[in-house]
Amino acid sequence: MGDYLVAAEPHRSLVLQVYDERYLDIEGIEEEIAREEILSASVAGVTSDPTELTTISTLIRDMRILLCKARGTISRGKLTPRIDWMPSRTNSKVTRLLVDDLRGSLPPLGLRDIKIGTVDNESQFSIPAEALDGRITVITGRKESGKSHLAKMLLRGLLAQRAYSIVFDLNDEYGAVGQRKDGSSTDASAMVRVMRPGRDMKFSLATIGLRSISNLLSHSLEMPGTSLREFVKIWEQLDNRDELTLATLESAIHQWRCNEFVRDALFARYHTLVSCGLFTDSEEKQFDLRDFFTLNPDGGALVVSLGGISPMNRRMVVELILSKVVELLEHRKVPPIFLFAEEAHLYLRETYWEDLITRMRHFGVFTVFVTNQPDAIDQKIYRQVDNIFLYNFSNDSDLALISQASTADADTVRAIVRTLPPRMCLLLGYAVRNLPVVVSVDPFDSPASGTTRRFFEETEQVAA
Ligand SMILES: Nc1ncnc2c1ncn2[C@@H]1O[C@H](COP(=O)(O)OP(=O)(O)OP(=O)(O)O)[C@@H](O)[C@H]1O
Ligand SMILES: [Mg+2]
Repeated sequence: MGDYLVAAEPHRSLVLQVYDERYLDIEGIEEEIAREEILSASVAGVTSDPTELTTISTLIRDMRILLCKARGTISRGKLTPRIDWMPSRTNSKVTRLLVDDLRGSLPPLGLRDIKIGTVDNESQFSIPAEALDGRITVITGRKESGKSHLAKMLLRGLLAQRAYSIVFDLNDEYGAVGQRKDGSSTDASAMVRVMRPGRDMKFSLATIGLRSISNLLSHSLEMPGTSLREFVKIWEQLDNRDELTLATLESAIHQWRCNEFVRDALFARYHTLVSCGLFTDSEEKQFDLRDFFTLNPDGGALVVSLGGISPMNRRMVVELILSKVVELLEHRKVPPIFLFAEEAHLYLRETYWEDLITRMRHFGVFTVFVTNQPDAIDQKIYRQVDNIFLYNFSNDSDLALISQASTADADTVRAIVRTLPPRMCLLLGYAVRNLPVVVSVDPFDSPASGTTRRFFEETEQVAA
């Protein structure tokens, strides 16, 4: 399913995509079946069939009808989206159209190929890195279908093209993206930097800046407006004197003239900032996002390991990084980046979603969302998504949601996705120019990871 056919007439041909298959049902076929069953089962002696009627009727009974959607017209070797005509039933010739040939009838989107798998059983399939550039991509499917696997292939592909990426890594599985299965390094290994917030990733107040901090205070720490205003004044005073540290902030709050409620609110947030362990006054320990770019002049991946971190700290780190990235991009201090966000609903506030796909994309943050819960992403957002990699979903409500949300017609998505075997995905959208393609994703030469811990396997290993 998902294969392409072409109904060719002398001057033009209609491109069709198979989305479902069923038995041919013609008037009277049931009666025919019933008659044959009775004949073969009960009437001894009727064995000769001189005109071989049974074979013909078996053939007819086994005939399948392929349900197709028209996808466009090829004329003079060029594909256009026209589907406003019907090929002749008698004079047109229906043949298989290989994805390679289909793509050959369109000018390429780019030259920086990222190989991801095969199509039509044997031919290699790549998407151009340009198809992710400036775009929003979603990878979704049920658990263990191969989503992270594909995300890692895209990430390695981007590294090979010397691009910059930031990964919000929930299961601590992206750190090894530069390595081969046997543990040896690829060219990309040195470009991958794994950081653990609170451990080797700590920020100084000064580099984070007022804007990020006040965003954090008002959104993540729900600081009321009045206290926030006082906080901003204290901050600015310290900043003007070039004395912005956690220590000076504490004493400034002590000495600040304000009412006790406000002071309490200021202290409460101050203590949260200190105790979360994300900030430091130490020059050597602090992390400046710009260093990531200057230390990796040929592209790189910053893997933010969110595994063992409290939900609160996750949100804070993600917000700090995003607002810093946007600030740097706004001032054109860093090149555009790709963002890989696994299960983003676990650490991304509601308001950030739209921000990511509109404002942040505009500045140069191009997100790849990876999730096994398609309903965690709002319908509004799906409509803005450029590329969707869809793995299998068997659950009806997930299917309904995803078929409505994607750019292709609901019939195709529903029928194809329901029957997709593991490691195969349906690619929709810009990268394939809205001609949905079923891709069998390649294995990836990287250490196995992201696997769920298993009780029995582990006890066996201990025993052995
Ligand atoms: N195309 C593939 N070829 C070979 N192995 C694959 C392929 N896709 C996935 N795998 C393997 O299958 C397992 C599950 O894949 P992966 O971790 O990518 O799934 P997932 O969809 O991210 O699952 P989860 O929802 O649990 O995060 C992994 O061990 C991965 O290495
Ligand atoms: Mg995964």
